[in-house]
Amino acid sequence: MTDQKTQPDEPVIAAYKPALAALQEGKKYFWCTCGRSEKQPFCDGSHAGTDFKPLMFVAEKTEEVLLCACKRTRSGPYCDGAHNNLQDTYEEASADEITAMSDAKLIARDADNGGKAILDGGAYVLTPDPANAQHKGTLSWQSLIGAEDGAKHLGLVRITAAKGTAPWQSHKKSDSVLFIVSGKGTITIEDKAFTVGPETGLFVQAGERYFLHADEPMTIMAAICPQSDGAEWPDGPNGAFNTSFTERRVGVDHDKAEVMADRFFQILVDDQVGSKEITQFIGEVPLSRAAFHRHLYEEAIVILSGTGMMWTENCRAPVNPGDIIFLAKRQGHSLECTDPKGLRLMGAFYPAGSPAINY
Ligand code: FES
Repeated sequence: MTDQKTQPDEPVIAAYKPALAALQEGKKYFWCTCGRSEKQPFCDGSHAGTDFKPLMFVAEKTEEVLLCACKRTRSGPYCDGAHNNLQDTYEEASADEITAMSDAKLIARDADNGGKAILDGGAYVLTPDPANAQHKGTLSWQSLIGAEDGAKHLGLVRITAAKGTAPWQSHKKSDSVLFIVSGKGTITIEDKAFTVGPETGLFVQAGERYFLHADEPMTIMAAICPQSDGAEWPDGPNGAFNTSFTERRVGVDHDKAEVMADRFFQILVDDQVGSKEITQFIGEVPLSRAAFHRHLYEEAIVILSGTGMMWTENCRAPVNPGDIIFLAKRQGHSLECTDPKGLRLMGAFYPAGSPAINY
């Protein structure tokens, strides 16, 4: 237990990070709510004499989950990221961690690997090369993350659109979560038109057809899930718009941003606009180096502004605006911001959830 500065009627903060637990379908578990158990995250009876009682739950499936250890979650027994706000600063790399990683090899972009700097576990940093793009009408696109890159579920495609109207496109079996990096225009999904500009997120459900009209040249990052062999180019709409989710566009709204100590993020596209597989967010990191951590999701990150260094166990690679980062599920990593003005990024990950949850 790391913190005893709590009131007697408050749970003890057993840890400032969630605990990874392997659950078995149908099995009953007792999650510790008091924080006093020595068998975190589960109850060992240490709540005796307090008003706390363990929370019993039955695992719905066999899976690894992150259970709350700070005991401040609003979604018990699961971590909801509440631990991030219990300290004044986001957890940064410790002096020991920095020393231990001081020998991490600086990896250069490798032309033989499509220009990627390949880090541990198949993670990579890539500066997209427009020369590799394919073209149709006003559109150019290139795959930046896919099965051939080691990703299991996510695809990431960089789309640029010249001024004008692009052809209709669709992915029959894959959802598309779009992020407008620059430029402005209109994206029409079936018969619904959405005006979009920089830092707008937009959800297009599998089977829906859409086209974009660029008022000025646009750059878009499209996260695709499940991975697709490429878009189809139908002649027009087919009326398949899912009217259960009529609003698909989400813009940056500082009132909706989640503050995590000295950094913030805002969820853009999630299940509120119909995206059940992918969560898209935008975030800002101050001059700092995050503590080494892992997520239970596969992630694509796009650097929007600022400079930094991506660290994995034994490797590191610099990142600059326009670069993308791929991280496999459970890949240990730390993103360092080396820019006094901060680093702004967009992330998209599968399965959907909260970017504030790591272990
Ligand atoms: S030991 Fe914490 S609820 Fe039982």
